[in-house]
Amino acid sequence: MSVLPTRYTELVGIEHPIIQEGMGPFKTVALAAAVSNAGGMGTISMPGMSQEPSEGAAIMRSHISACAELTDKPFAVNVPVGADDNGKVLPITEAYINAVIAAREADSKVGQQLKVLTTSAGFPGAFASRIKDAGLIHQHKVGSTRQAIKAEEAGADVIIASGYEMGGHTHHSPVHTFVLLPNVTAAVSVPVLLSGGARDGRTLAAALALGASGVAMGTRFIASADNTDWHPSVAQFIVDAREGDDVVFPGVYGPARGLRTAATDRLLEIVANGEMTIDELTEWKDHALQLAQSTGDFEKGLVAAGQVASGIQDVVDAATFVPQMAREASEVLQELVRGLVPTSTVGV
Ligand SMILES: Cc1cc2nc3c(=O)[nH]c(=O)nc-3n(C[C@H](O)[C@H](O)[C@H](O)COP(=O)(O)O)c2cc1C
Repeated sequence: MSVLPTRYTELVGIEHPIIQEGMGPFKTVALAAAVSNAGGMGTISMPGMSQEPSEGAAIMRSHISACAELTDKPFAVNVPVGADDNGKVLPITEAYINAVIAAREADSKVGQQLKVLTTSAGFPGAFASRIKDAGLIHQHKVGSTRQAIKAEEAGADVIIASGYEMGGHTHHSPVHTFVLLPNVTAAVSVPVLLSGGARDGRTLAAALALGASGVAMGTRFIASADNTDWHPSVAQFIVDAREGDDVVFPGVYGPARGLRTAATDRLLEIVANGEMTIDELTEWKDHALQLAQSTGDFEKGLVAAGQVASGIQDVVDAATFVPQMAREASEVLQELVRGLVPTSTVGV
């Protein structure tokens, strides 16, 4: 029995309003299955935006099958909507969306479990009806209220309101979670998830108080024992981070947030001095991100993570953490109600 049912848990059929978001280009198969098994919603990440489309689609199909082997619960897939300089949607985005739909059609177990497609980055309007016709619940991640309204109008079933403090690619215009979330929940009528800065039951309770139907987290779940697709020292690097240790650097398609390393200093220097072409720089960044994630090299490697790393003090396991977070949020909300001064005594 859910201790904290919300519009979101009802819509997607999960127990706890706690989502592990996509963290591409890294593999999150084991993590997604663990979060789903714990009663939350795990997300398969996109394997990269610069791959040859058929190759990327094949990797994504294999990750979807692997996740369905590890859990019988619902899970999601993330596909960023990339565009070229003329605003045309990238072939890799189309290939990933087709791969998700084909994976559901090819296997009835996958069809039942792979319930949610989360689009992010660019506007998903061109895909909205295809996603819906395939029977998927369409979540879209935004960084502004204007984008949220536009996505709802285009047919998105769920909006993820992601604040500037988030890890990974963030937004050109810095609107933080505490301002963005209540703006978005006031502006749209579909369920909204908070993303950026959530980490525990208190932050989940706060999100619900601001009108959200759940929280979607990245950084918190990097520091998880279930994140076995990553080098274990990345989790400890997150735990060791303190306030001020994060930095925004030019990502692959916009500003990105990560933890300061020798590589982030070097990256900012390369950009300031114009030392590389755009293609060389993209390759350098891709390599540096993969290096930290796969080997734990924090000298030459880039670590994408959110400001919330400063508040993460332990490596959790999803089976314990997810239900505990929901329970903690429920208790916080009940305690707040109990602790309120009755209105009849105010001013007496
Ligand atoms: C390592 C890393 C990789 C990410 N990659 C993606 C991605 O491929 N697609 C996407 O929509 N968001 C991506 N994000 C953003 C997360 O999905 C999520 O919105 C963010 O982590 C939420 O903020 P938090 O880190 O404070 O929880 C990434 C975040 C991190 C930390």
